[in-house]
Amino acid sequence: MKRIRPVIPAVLTLILASAAAFAAAAGEETITLADAPGRELTVASCAVCHSLDYLPMNAAVMNRAAWEKSIHKMIDKFGAPIDAANIPVILDYLALHYSAGS
Ligand code: HEC
Repeated sequence: MKRIRPVIPAVLTLILASAAAFAAAAGEETITLADAPGRELTVASCAVCHSLDYLPMNAAVMNRAAWEKSIHKMIDKFGAPIDAANIPVILDYLALHYSAGS
C-alpha cells in the first residue's frame, strides 16, 4: 500500500489537469457574461439556441428598446421558451450591461 500511494496524487493531478484543459477548450465556445443580477436567467434563456457571443457582439448597436424587440423576436419568430415574467429581468440586464446607449 505504501508503495502505490504516491502514484495516486500523480494520477489525480493528471485527471484534473486534463479536465481543466477540456473546460478551457469548451470555454472558448461560450463567453462569460457580466456578473450582475439577471445573468443566470439571461444565460439560461439565451444560450439554448446560439452562442452568447451574440450579446456583446450586438451591444454597440443596441439599446433598451432594441433589446426588447430582439427578445420578442427570439420568442415570436424562433420560439424561444422564455417566460413572460422573466422578460423584464433579462431586458434590464441587457439594457444595463450590453447597450451602447438609451
Ligand atoms: C429558440 C431559439 C433561440 C433562443 C432561445 C434565443 N435565440 Fe437569439 N437567435 C435565434 C436565431 C435562430 C437567430 C438568427 C439566426 C442566427 O444567426 O443564429 C438568433 C439571433 C440572435 C441575435 C442576432 C441578431 C438577430 O436578431 O438575428 C441576437 C442579438 C440574439 N439572437 C439575442 C438573443 C437573446 C438576447 C436571447 C435570450 C433572451 C436569445 N437570442 C434567445 C434563436 C434563438
